[in-house]
Amino acid sequence: MVNNTLQVNRPEPIKAGIDIGSFTRKSDIRETIQTLLAGKQILVEEIYSNGLYLLRELTSYLKNTLPNDSFLEQRAFRAEFRKLSHLILIHVKEHKLMVRKAPVIGWLEKLYPELNEFFLPLPQIQGLNSAWQWYKNGIHIPVLRNKIHPYFGVYFPTRFEHLNLFDNWLKRYEGPKKTAVDIGVGSGVLSLLMVQHGFQKIFGTDINPNAIIGLSESMEGTKLARKIEIDFGHLFGKWEKPTELIVFNPPWLPAMQELNKLDEAIYYNEQLFPDFFEAAHKRLLAGGKIVILFSNIAQITQVTTEHPIKKELLSGNRFVLEKCLKKSVKEASEKTKRNQHWRGKEEVELWVLTSSTND
Ligand SMILES: C[S@@+](CC[C@H](N)C(=O)[O-])C[C@H]1O[C@@H](n2cnc3c(N)ncnc32)[C@H](O)[C@@H]1O
Repeated sequence: MVNNTLQVNRPEPIKAGIDIGSFTRKSDIRETIQTLLAGKQILVEEIYSNGLYLLRELTSYLKNTLPNDSFLEQRAFRAEFRKLSHLILIHVKEHKLMVRKAPVIGWLEKLYPELNEFFLPLPQIQGLNSAWQWYKNGIHIPVLRNKIHPYFGVYFPTRFEHLNLFDNWLKRYEGPKKTAVDIGVGSGVLSLLMVQHGFQKIFGTDINPNAIIGLSESMEGTKLARKIEIDFGHLFGKWEKPTELIVFNPPWLPAMQELNKLDEAIYYNEQLFPDFFEAAHKRLLAGGKIVILFSNIAQITQVTTEHPIKKELLSGNRFVLEKCLKKSVKEASEKTKRNQHWRGKEEVELWVLTSSTND
């Protein structure tokens, strides 16, 4: 059951300033870039591709004026591009972009039902447009029978080795299949896989409201709505009852800075794992199992030497290791391999823990 008061995450609608500039094909590109550098907004007019042209010109201007080699330089370059490109605005009226030959983006109606007229930065329009294509056309996930339709701002997998590990583990799983809990349900991939493998009821949670809104929308009126119940909340949310299987595909990297909602699918804070293990220990039935999908990515990229699951096991109090299955991740293609020499060493991990107090 979904709380109707959930606030969806969406790009912040903005008001245009009084002295906003305008960009058409006739505008002087240098002058326009100077206006952006002075911190003033620019409205894209006439045709959508004018905006894309301005973005390209802004990129080449910055490439010619800023160093972009070292890690720090690249980061500064991206920050400057981000700041300036977000001053390039598109007018949205009655849920449509007010330029010709613009993409039709259904999110404008779904995410801003109460707003008739506002402005959005062009890079955010681009993000909304890609997200709309994924949502509308759906994404095929190799282990699932049906496509998923990820909601705006919700994590969905783009590599599948960890899902193969979980699928194979589920094929061999001989325990009871009455209930399972899926922490951080996201687009629902793990819950759907468990239903496919005969689990009768899954209780999912997520701290990202869009995950909850999106999944309830996609399950509405289908049999799945009775099989997968979801709650907007931290870790177990309102699910208190002990269960035979707890599944968690957590973020794989420790956080270095403050997180936004989509980042919380990728980065974890210091408390996440200790809190998870404490709560999970209270909610595991005798003989029950915890499955955590993880990766060695934080170690091989030298972000940390600490492994939160090994750390918990070493403390020796609550859980024992039943098994850890590993699978190497396909190497990146030649095109994307640059600066990613660690790629060949990447492995995903499936950890199965049982309670140390079980008989
Ligand atoms: C890597 S994604 C996995 C999503 C999905 N289970 C899957 O495998 O495709 C991690 C998910 O956990 C959620 N999450 C992060 N911290 C959480 C917390 N403290 N409580 C509940 N969910 C959390 C994120 O919002 C995200 O949807």
